Amino acid sequence: MASTEKQPLLKVEHLSKEFPAGSGVFGGRLSRSVVSAVKDISFEIYPGETFGLVGESGCGKSTTGRTIMRLNRPTEGKVFFDGRDVSVMNKQELKAMRRDMQFIFQDPYASLNPRMTIGEIVSEPMTIHNVGTHEERMDRVRELLDVVGLNPEHINRYPHEFSGGQRQRVGIARAFALRPKLIICDEPVSALDVSIQAQVLNLLKDLQNRFGTAYLFIAHDLSVVQHISDRVAVMYLGKMVEVSDWKSLYAEPHHPYTQSLLSAVPVPDPDIQRDRRRVILAGDPPSPIDPPTGCRFHTRCPIAQAICSKEQPEFKEVAPGHRCACHFAEAFPIKESHIDL
Ligand SMILES: Nc1ncnc2c1ncn2[C@@H]1O[C@H](COP(=O)(O)OP(=O)(O)O)[C@@H](O)[C@H]1O
Ligand code: SF4
Ligand SMILES: [Mg+2]
Repeated sequence: MASTEKQPLLKVEHLSKEFPAGSGVFGGRLSRSVVSAVKDISFEIYPGETFGLVGESGCGKSTTGRTIMRLNRPTEGKVFFDGRDVSVMNKQELKAMRRDMQFIFQDPYASLNPRMTIGEIVSEPMTIHNVGTHEERMDRVRELLDVVGLNPEHINRYPHEFSGGQRQRVGIARAFALRPKLIICDEPVSALDVSIQAQVLNLLKDLQNRFGTAYLFIAHDLSVVQHISDRVAVMYLGKMVEVSDWKSLYAEPHHPYTQSLLSAVPVPDPDIQRDRRRVILAGDPPSPIDPPTGCRFHTRCPIAQAICSKEQPEFKEVAPGHRCACHFAEAFPIKESHIDL
C-alpha cells in the first residue's frame, strides 16, 4: 500500500519524450516537426503499490513506461529508481536495474518468441543475469509455472500450443522470475477475452500480495484499473491531467476528461445507469504533432473558456493527494454517487 512516509521506489520528474516526425518546408524554411508523446509529467510509485495509468490510445502511456525502463531516452526530465537516476545510467547499470524492473507486454501473441520453449522464455531473465545453474533455473521455472497456474510439465512446449490467457501467464511468470521490485504492466489484459481478463487480473493481484511487487499498471479504460489500483493517474495527449487515490478519483473526479472517461464506465444498476450524467466528448484527440496551445484538452472540453487556449493550467492539489490540471478544477468536481466504496 502507498504510504507517504515511505521513500518512493520510482520517482518521475518532469518527464518529456519527443519523437522526430519528419521534416517539411514551411514559409520557405526547412522545419522539423516532433511528436510530443509525453510532456512534463511527474509522479511517484511506492513499494508494493499499484499505480494505474489511464488514457485513450496514443496519449503516451507506453512511451511513459518505455522511457522509465530506458528503452527510450527521455527528451527532458528525470527518472529515479530506488534513488538512482535512470536517465544517466550506463549499459551495465541499466542491466542491473532491469533485474528489479520488469515489463509485461500488451500482446501475448507478439511478445513471446515463437521459436523458444516456455522453459527458455521464462528462464531467460535468469540466464541474462547469470542466476543459478541450468538445473536450478529449470526448477525455478517449474515453480513459477505452478505459481501462475500453468502445468509445470509443459515446460518444453512452444507458445503456439497455448491460448492467449495462458501465454499472458507465461509472460507474467517470466516477469516474476527475478522477483523484481517493480513491474510495468502495459495493458496486460486488453488483448484477452473479457472472460479471461478477470482471472489474469486476480493472478496479478495475488502475486503482488505474495511478493510485495509494485505495479505501474497501464490501461486505456478506467474499469480495468478500478479493482487493482491504489492510485490512478489520467493522461490526455501526453499530459497528466489528474492523479489521486482511486476512491476519490472515482467518487469525485475534478477534471472534465476524467469525468468523461468515468461516465463511459457502465454501472450494473440499470436505474442508476439511466439517470447518470453522461459527458460525451466531440471528435477524436488532436495530433501530438503540434498539440493545442494552453490546455491540450481545450479543443474537446465541454466547459472550456477563453483562458484555456492561452494558458497552461497548473497541476494543482484540489484535495490531499489529489491533483488536477484544470483552470476550473475546484469549481467542477462531480459526485459519482453510484460508486460503491
Ligand atoms: N518510436 C516512435 N516514433 C514516433 N512516434 C512514436 C513512437 N512511439 C510512439 N509514438 C507516438 O507517440 C504517441 C504516444 O504513443 P504511445 O505511447 O504508444 O501511446 P499509448 O500507449 O497511450 O497508446 C503516439 O502519437 C505515437 O504515434
Ligand atoms: S483548463 Fe479549460 S479546457 Fe482544460 S480541462 Fe479545464 S476547463 Fe477544460
Ligand atoms: Mg500503448
